[in-house]
Amino acid sequence: MTKEEVQLYWNTKPCGSDVTEHAKYSKQYFEEIEDVRYAREPEIFSFAQFPRAHKKKVLEVGVGVGTDFVQFVRSGADAYGIDLTEEGINHVQNRLKLYELPQATLVTADCENLPFQDSFFDMVYSWGVVHHTADTERAIKEIFRVAKPGGIVKIMVYHKWSIVGMMFWVKHALFKFRPWKSISWCMANFMESPGTKVYSKREVRNMLNGIPECSNYSVQTRLTYYDDLTRFSPFFGKMGRVITQLTGGDARGWFLMISAKKE
Ligand SMILES: C[S@@+](CC[C@H](N)C(=O)[O-])C[C@H]1O[C@@H](n2cnc3c(N)ncnc32)[C@H](O)[C@@H]1O
Repeated sequence: MTKEEVQLYWNTKPCGSDVTEHAKYSKQYFEEIEDVRYAREPEIFSFAQFPRAHKKKVLEVGVGVGTDFVQFVRSGADAYGIDLTEEGINHVQNRLKLYELPQATLVTADCENLPFQDSFFDMVYSWGVVHHTADTERAIKEIFRVAKPGGIVKIMVYHKWSIVGMMFWVKHALFKFRPWKSISWCMANFMESPGTKVYSKREVRNMLNGIPECSNYSVQTRLTYYDDLTRFSPFFGKMGRVITQLTGGDARGWFLMISAKKE
């Protein structure tokens, strides 16, 4: 995967904008995106804890179309955001203007090279972004670099050993008569932008253990809307939930959430 390919993908399909037919940048457009997002991903609220960002210097890495970013701004954060795409940054600027919210510092930038000085932010938040870049470890190190000592780091990456991961393997490897292909291969080729990566809890812990400023962290997985087996086939019916619980419940969830404090 090249950075240009990833950029082209997200410039063409800004994250989450496919759920609405309303005119781009209209109120209905942003509100439908927001409604669908939080109906599908309500776990964001307990993870991000937007109200705690009040008067804090917060950086969101990979703002997408800005649905979480506006929550930080509405909470009274001194909010900064970056995204690889101009399309993402334009979306957020238009969204802030539409709601007459204060303009924030928004920059087109690469998460592997954050354009901020060391120890600058009280909180750095990133939801579903760093697994789209070639050097995810470097992106995570960058996030810790720009967080202040004592600052909060919250990162979500996709979980390899999830129902989504397994169903992708069934669909793109088993059913295509190439069962030797891995979940990681299926994700790199068929999940969102080219080269998307997925991680096990152990792989994430190994990455975090290599960052000296990160000694205090938790790594959790959570079952999500996307892990609902009936989304893959109505065949599962009411048994879908039972099967999901039998395979491990939250341990098989798609979202792998890292919460850490910088030392
Ligand atoms: C799945 S979307 C998530 C966006 C947003 N956080 C959300 O949850 O809606 C992935 C986003 O990551 C951005 N992205 C991908 N690679 C990046 C990189 N190297 N640096 C910064 N942003 C990147 C994309 O442009 C896209 O907006």
